[in-house]
Amino acid sequence: MKTRPRVLQVGRLLPGLEARLAADYGAYRLADEADPQAFLAAHGAAFEALVCSAGGVGADAALIAALPSLRVISSFGVGLDKIDLAAAARRGIAVGYTPDVLNDCVADLAMALLLDVARRTPEADRYVRAGHWGAPGAAAFPLGRKLSGARLGLVGYGRIGQTIARRAAGFDMAIRYHARRAVQGSAHAHEASLTALADWADFLVVITAGGAGTRHLIDAAVLDALGPEGFLVNVARGSVVDEAALVRALVERRIAGAGLDVFEHEPRVPAELLALDNVVLLPHIASATHETRQAMAQRVLDNLQAFFAGEPLPSAAPLP
Ligand code: 8YV
Repeated sequence: MKTRPRVLQVGRLLPGLEARLAADYGAYRLADEADPQAFLAAHGAAFEALVCSAGGVGADAALIAALPSLRVISSFGVGLDKIDLAAAARRGIAVGYTPDVLNDCVADLAMALLLDVARRTPEADRYVRAGHWGAPGAAAFPLGRKLSGARLGLVGYGRIGQTIARRAAGFDMAIRYHARRAVQGSAHAHEASLTALADWADFLVVITAGGAGTRHLIDAAVLDALGPEGFLVNVARGSVVDEAALVRALVERRIAGAGLDVFEHEPRVPAELLALDNVVLLPHIASATHETRQAMAQRVLDNLQAFFAGEPLPSAAPLP
């Protein structure tokens, strides 16, 4: 290490963001080290700031402990499940993240997955590419399900859940949600029982925070309540769904299909899912547009800049 940069970057980030971190702070990339643990043992005390990512490498207790001078974490993303917030709070470390700027794109992708699973668009695309359309003896493409006017159950009703609800209202969907608390003034009904919500819904969209509190919230009982005519869409975290139970339910056709942007052990996707036509699989891209990723990168920089200027972070994560 030639200089003593104050900012450590873990995992890889957008090239433009990495360039700004390097130019503005001389940020050091841990990913460049052959032996990151040895590097941290030798140089960990040099760093006051850590930049990490919600969907990539976060900041667990071991990493925070390896950085004894750490004062701020700036994370690329809204999810906080990869950051040990309790460890940060105990040390008085501020945590910045990037909420709000990705609401539109995550909600847009939820609608895309709803349409994909209902209208079977990826499967229809494969049908055309395989030359089946109009081919002698080929079966006609099977009918899909109507999304407009159907029942949408939202598991989670925070900023993104409410943005999905606004879009779904444009599709004349009946909407109910399950959340720890009812949201005052909402036009949509709060359903205290997740199983009852799944039983009611044609489409169940998971958009709740990850972490220990929501692990395997969607289990076999919820999937059975959703039933053989019901579809599951997950744009939250893989950990919220019991993936083994989901695979079983899909293979046994106990639910109609699923649209998944997230998985329990990313980037690993269960092999059984790859063989199913009623499943749409995406590589965690809900926030992945030029516009939104740029806005997220800017918020990462704004949080850092505010911290070093001694100002409140524009987006400070709630600490326990
Ligand atoms: C990731 C996400 O940040 O915001 C989140 O919580 O999961 C994503 O937006 C993104 O995939 C980069 O890792």
